[in-house]
Amino acid sequence: MTGSAWDTYARSKRPRPEVNSCGERTWFNWTQFPDHGPGAEVLGVGPGATALELGCGKGGNAAHVARLGVRCIAVDLSGVQVQAARKRWADVDDLEFHQREAVDYLGACDYRFDAVFSVFGALWFTDPAVLLPAIRGRMAPGGVLAFSHRPAFAGCYGCQAAFISSPDAAEPLVVQRWDYEPKVWADMLTETGYVNVQAGVIEAPHGGVGTLLVHGQNPGV
Ligand SMILES: C[S@@+](CC[C@H](N)C(=O)[O-])C[C@H]1O[C@@H](n2cnc3c(N)ncnc32)[C@H](O)[C@@H]1O
Repeated sequence: MTGSAWDTYARSKRPRPEVNSCGERTWFNWTQFPDHGPGAEVLGVGPGATALELGCGKGGNAAHVARLGVRCIAVDLSGVQVQAARKRWADVDDLEFHQREAVDYLGACDYRFDAVFSVFGALWFTDPAVLLPAIRGRMAPGGVLAFSHRPAFAGCYGCQAAFISSPDAAEPLVVQRWDYEPKVWADMLTETGYVNVQAGVIEAPHGGVGTLLVHGQNPGV
């Protein structure tokens, strides 16, 4: 059910434009606003590193990370998303897309990642009590975990129902989403063993709802 809900979402979502406002073909965007907020520097990776994206959608951020000389593996539950990503970014080296559930992939792979990231992706839609330790178990010493999504609505914390509408279905499809205040995310990362943890909201460019950005580091360098 969840996979088909995400396929429905994927069909409704327009692809990223061909170029951004600077004319660049790839770019990293943590937020829901074009050309806004920090970029891939949050990940602290460069040529020779290996990165993993969880819930990559159509792959624009993963393609940008690969273009920086980083080997980038990107997974998504939705076959529709993965097919679109493979087609659009076929000419980018060191980039792989897999149709996989995030926790399953982490349990099966044998990489050590220098960065793991998720942009409105699997980190928002998977129980963090399961996912945060699973990620940490596959991170290289000093590796960075970073993720973004819309901030929680005041008072709506923990597992929430999120609705995906479809013109073909009488009722919206439902997926689970985990919403917390920045401090709660920071505490959860710290309790899982991450260090140098930061969590805060990037303000929206013209007011309104901003973007929560959380990052931390695996100890060990
Ligand atoms: C809101 S979309 C964001 C996609 C993309 N990161 C972007 O910024 O456009 C959420 C994505 O996460 C994927 N997803 C949700 N739960 C997942 C999980 N447990 N494992 C892998 N992918 C997941 C969905 O299939 C969907 O493509």
